[in-house]
Amino acid sequence: MDLSIKQGVKLLATGSAVPNLSISNDLISTFVDTSDAWIYSRTGIKERRVVSGSSSLIDIAALASDRAMHKIQMDPKDIDLIILATSTPNDLFGSASQLQAKISADNAVAFDITAACSGFIVAMVTASQFIQNGTFSNVLVVGADILSKWTDWSDRRTCVLFGDGAGAVILQSSSVINNSVLGFKLNTDGKKYDQLNIHYDMVDSWRNSIHNGLYGRFNTITMNGKEVYKFAVSRVPESIQFCLNSLNLSVAQVDWLLLHQANARILKAVASRLMIPLDKVISNLAKYGNTSAASIPLALDEAIEDSLISQGDLIVMSGFGAGLTWGTVVLKWQS
Ligand code: COA
Repeated sequence: MDLSIKQGVKLLATGSAVPNLSISNDLISTFVDTSDAWIYSRTGIKERRVVSGSSSLIDIAALASDRAMHKIQMDPKDIDLIILATSTPNDLFGSASQLQAKISADNAVAFDITAACSGFIVAMVTASQFIQNGTFSNVLVVGADILSKWTDWSDRRTCVLFGDGAGAVILQSSSVINNSVLGFKLNTDGKKYDQLNIHYDMVDSWRNSIHNGLYGRFNTITMNGKEVYKFAVSRVPESIQFCLNSLNLSVAQVDWLLLHQANARILKAVASRLMIPLDKVISNLAKYGNTSAASIPLALDEAIEDSLISQGDLIVMSGFGAGLTWGTVVLKWQS
């Protein structure tokens, strides 16, 4: 029990949403030089969901949130804080306020967190701090991304990897003894920001922008796949081991390893380095690909819906990605 906290954190409910449109590996093979065999063997991905028509980030984020609230009959007016982890906002000033309006959480403070595929973990930690120090009682944490809008669909090195989705969790204050968020570790290595990014090209001068009406523009995703792979399989096990050591927990006590769903080979390599058997590794990667900030809460929601996770289970969740950023949260499941 951590005596420095004023309140514990309880995870009350989860929800998730993905767009209806599915893009299979075979379909991608019709417009870039790739194959289902290559994609599946290198990544574990079979298909991904992509928003279409007028459907937006806010639509899927709101649906995931509504589903989580519905499970516990929560009145949105009781939410104190909404944290939306996303790298694909509707509005560069932040999209959380649109989510707040859409779900009618009129009393909630709302803001975005941008930390790419680590975004949900950073948001969970931030939310937990606000609860544990006594500031807020009911917090909605949403991870949502629509990277399909930022993908170069003619680049086979990246377009096969990503998909769109949203996942939500509702955290609530509890007694300190029932605290579920046991520990965490967050890291950043900004020197490697260019290994995976969506770069903004600025015009060279303010005067040019007046004359040309051009202020710059964002590029599509660029990635050094090999470097990102090496980074993930080395840093993530370190982060997990650090958390477990600081909590005096052994790897054998971990019931579920829930990693950011980036690549099946990364999931296997991290589990193998930690000597965690593969039947403790949660994965829905084949169906959705890499959904960035959504991947962990989406997989968590599905694992709970499938009754994989039981009362008292210890879940280790780790995110990693652009920044470069990575982080771990150790959670005890008690509903
Ligand atoms: N289909 C067919 N061939 C492809 C391909 C595709 N979709 N993508 C790349 N290739 C080709 C490359 O062009 C290269 O060909 P060449 O040798 O003729 O140049 C060959 O496959 C090997 O490319 P390489 O990049 O070395 O493949 P890889 O085994 O490293 O796998 C990734 C590529 C992207 C799957 C892998 O590096 C990876 O998963 N990295 C981590 C990415 C990630 O998870 N990012 C998000 C983190 S949040």
